[in-house]
Amino acid sequence: MNILILGGGGREHSLAWAVKQNPKCDRLIVAPGNAGIAMLAECADLDILHGAAVVQFAEENAVDFVIVGPEAPLAAGVADALRAAGILTFGPSAAAARLEASKSFTKEICDACGAPTAGYAKFTDRAAAEAHVRAEGAPIVVKADGLAAGKGVIVAMTEGEALSGIAEIFGGAFGAAGAEVVIEEFMEGEEASLFVLCDGADVLPIGTAQDHKRVGDGDTGPNTGGMGAYSPAPVLTAAVLNQAMEEIVKPTVAEMARRGTPFQGVLYAGLMIRDGRARLVEYNVRFGDPECQVLMMRLGAQAFDLIQACAEGRLAEARVTWAEDHALTVVMAAAGYPGAYAKGSQIRGLEELPEDSSRMVFHAGTAERDGGIVATGGRVLNVTARGATLAEARERAYGMVDAIDWPGGFCRRDIGWRAL
Ligand code: AMP
Ligand code: GLY
Repeated sequence: MNILILGGGGREHSLAWAVKQNPKCDRLIVAPGNAGIAMLAECADLDILHGAAVVQFAEENAVDFVIVGPEAPLAAGVADALRAAGILTFGPSAAAARLEASKSFTKEICDACGAPTAGYAKFTDRAAAEAHVRAEGAPIVVKADGLAAGKGVIVAMTEGEALSGIAEIFGGAFGAAGAEVVIEEFMEGEEASLFVLCDGADVLPIGTAQDHKRVGDGDTGPNTGGMGAYSPAPVLTAAVLNQAMEEIVKPTVAEMARRGTPFQGVLYAGLMIRDGRARLVEYNVRFGDPECQVLMMRLGAQAFDLIQACAEGRLAEARVTWAEDHALTVVMAAAGYPGAYAKGSQIRGLEELPEDSSRMVFHAGTAERDGGIVATGGRVLNVTARGATLAEARERAYGMVDAIDWPGGFCRRDIGWRAL
């Protein structure tokens, strides 16, 4: 098959790495890709937010199957355009992608299907939102309704923080994404993520993971897109996983189908676990980044068979072959991230690192310059390893980190601490 993957981060590098190992893959194209992806696939310059352009590219290149990586093209209806053109596609319609693109929509679905989540209220009026915060008190969580690149959530420990969050969102900091504000009950507990393939009718869990959102060791400093992850997440025991599937994921999928907007793709359920019960924090409608990297490391070549079965509506017959293994990824970021950071610093030592079924450096923000690799983003490399235990995976990953010569970069040294 000729396969096109949309996106150019570490998530897409790991998807390309897994897809490439599957014997069904003939030609592999990633748009736009990055310097790491270019070592195993063709990279194409393409406006991935523009459905008609993606369809035309797919037709011209005899693409049989498209995997959509990030949320933005999904919310923009790129999967709808591809399916309308008769091209097999992995990823939800724009209507189903509202589970990520609108937080108030997700709350409405939870209400309709009885899925446990934080209590909430929604506002388009600033004074009413402020009055709600004053009545409820802190801690409380203030969210811009729409897509805000992971930045539209204020977990406020004081009333003042919540009020300034409201001012920021209604002041236009997130554009149209902030036209509505959702204010939620603060949930305590331990967070973990559950990834479930959905073909519109059937569901198949394909792994769990835990992320590290804060930039600094010991979970200190500002929030980031994620500084590292590991899989599986020990807090998602078989019992909690079962409860989350029965009370949250399956009712959501059934409600989406009932509304005539079935969800097809990977549903990423962000969960808060307390006293052995999970509640929904949020949905994403794509793989997590960097969570995808640890899932792909564990699934390997079978990932493509599962993704294909999902897109073809054959999940009822699909099975995951689990190894009793663990994977861990360490994000190396440019100094200054998540604030302002320099671009263009040289990264050396990558060529000497082993690349096999238990060790891979996935590239997130890199480019090739004069035969070398330079950093072009905030999160730059995802140093990923697998092991029989989490401790072994971690040792392997940091062994690779220490062999990378990149004075302009940094990473957390404690990825996996909670589980170890
Ligand atoms: P979201 O983008 O909705 O996942 O929110 C980003 C992060 O904010 C989550 O990963 C949680 O750590 C935190 N968060 C969001 N909603 C809540 C809530 N209701 N209670 C506690 N923490 C929350
Ligand atoms: N790592 C969090 C996300 O992909 O949304």
